[in-house]
Amino acid sequence: MGVLNGRTAIVTGAASGIGAAIADAYAAEGANVLLADRDVDRLAVAVERIGAAGGTATSAVVDVTDAEQTKAMVDACLADFGRVDILVNCAGMLTEVPLVEMDVATWDEMIAVDLRSVFLGCRWAVPHMVAQGSGRVVNVASQLGIKGGESLVHYSAAKAGVIGLTKALAREVAPHGVLVNAIAPGPIETPLVAGISEDWKIAKRAELPLGRFGLPHEIAPTAVLLASDPGGNLYVGQTLGPNSGDVMP
Ligand SMILES: NC(=O)c1ccc[n+]([C@@H]2O[C@H](COP(=O)([O-])OP(=O)(O)OC[C@H]3O[C@@H](n4cnc5c(N)ncnc54)[C@H](O)[C@@H]3O)[C@@H](O)[C@H]2O)c1
Repeated sequence: MGVLNGRTAIVTGAASGIGAAIADAYAAEGANVLLADRDVDRLAVAVERIGAAGGTATSAVVDVTDAEQTKAMVDACLADFGRVDILVNCAGMLTEVPLVEMDVATWDEMIAVDLRSVFLGCRWAVPHMVAQGSGRVVNVASQLGIKGGESLVHYSAAKAGVIGLTKALAREVAPHGVLVNAIAPGPIETPLVAGISEDWKIAKRAELPLGRFGLPHEIAPTAVLLASDPGGNLYVGQTLGPNSGDVMP
């Protein structure tokens, strides 16, 4: 018996990195998991991996910036499993551009993928949670939403927006039994940071009190905690920081 036994979760960005690790961990803890991503091939691999490990998983190919597709994602979860207990908004992207060179389309794309997507996931899933009187939302932000990052005004703004959305929605729906929280990881070894220069990574590691980046499976337990009962019962509007010591609020 896992701590999420019998619960149903949607995890976006579940084809890779942190989202894939959270989907694995939720399934290992007994949840039925709908994995959502736009990467069809890696999504299939992730679903198969969970099945091979004895878990229960289905998938939805979704562009999380699209209102109709995200609504269909929630409907698919209801069709597959009958309810939505947990929503993890993890899909995201990262590009680096100094503000003085940033075109408007670059800004708009980042806000759509990293912030609008979180609104959309919540917009369609939370009413079902409110109606059933229980639910958990875990939004994956970033410590850069707290401290800011060079050449990352768009990413930092989107992630700060996720933290603000989390607090506001937490106040709105906690009285209905729905707990909304965020995770703000530090640098984690995933494809998202693969393109960043080795020089930057060496300098960044030296700056971290822990001296190293995290791994996706080191973030997943925080997502399990926030979804669990009683472990997550008192977290409301919080932003937890598994970040190698990069930010100490
Ligand atoms: N890796 C880090 O250092 C780090 C640090 C802090 C926060 N984060 C956040 O963690 C989350 C996961 O990142 P990751 O590092 O695992 O990256 P990743 O690139 O390994 O995974 C991101 C996933 O999101 C999916 N995705 C992107 N845009 C999408 C869209 N429009 N529709 C559907 N799916 C889409 C991708 O296909 C991919 O599978 C992101 O929100 C990221 O900002 C990552």
